[in-house]
Amino acid sequence: MQDKPLTQIAHETLAPLISPGDTVIDATVGNGHDTLFLAQKVGLQGKVYGFDIQQEALDICYQRLSDNNADKQVSLFHAGHETMPMLIPVDYHIEKIQAIMFNLGYLPGGDKHRRTQLSTTLSALHFALQSLSIDGAITLLAYTGHSGGKEECNAIKDWLSTFNDAYDISHIKPQGATNSPPELIIIKKT
Ligand SMILES: C[S@@+](CC[C@H](N)C(=O)[O-])C[C@H]1O[C@@H](n2cnc3c(N)ncnc32)[C@H](O)[C@@H]1O
Repeated sequence: MQDKPLTQIAHETLAPLISPGDTVIDATVGNGHDTLFLAQKVGLQGKVYGFDIQQEALDICYQRLSDNNADKQVSLFHAGHETMPMLIPVDYHIEKIQAIMFNLGYLPGGDKHRRTQLSTTLSALHFALQSLSIDGAITLLAYTGHSGGKEECNAIKDWLSTFNDAYDISHIKPQGATNSPPELIIIKKT
């Protein structure tokens, strides 16, 4: 249980693992808070690949990046994260990505129906597990309060439990959680 925002814990978990020059992925760009964090960590020598199905999200993110002079090291794709195998250069497909962030659900302030879906999330996670560096980590923040959110979260946890031998997987929930708490899942290669 934690009293800090799970978004902050995700950043604090990844910060010591990411060095300037690393390649990382933001699987759900949204308003671009995580993309900016990743861009600042990898610096101009590094690379952030970002994915979102909504142009609106990418526009907000581009603005945030350019306001912070952190846009040059970022490539944003108007595409679902399930297309990672097609859009990430093949040299990075096996154990070359230092950090991958998933922040599931819908765009805050946007259309709640345009949200992540279990089948495409699992497809992207499959690529993420394969492309993750030995000393890197995946953070996955799942919200269970909206329609389909709890089912998505539980199915992801069931699927991930089949990888327990190869990955170190931890789960963090906020303190004083309500009936539908968000959950942060942290995945490291063992
Ligand atoms: C909770 S928001 C992400 C918040 C974001 N990481 C931030 O720092 O502001 C979830 C985002 O996932 C996007 N999304 C939904 N399905 C997706 C998919 N298949 N691939 C990539 N992004 C998707 C939504 O459009 C939405 O912008």
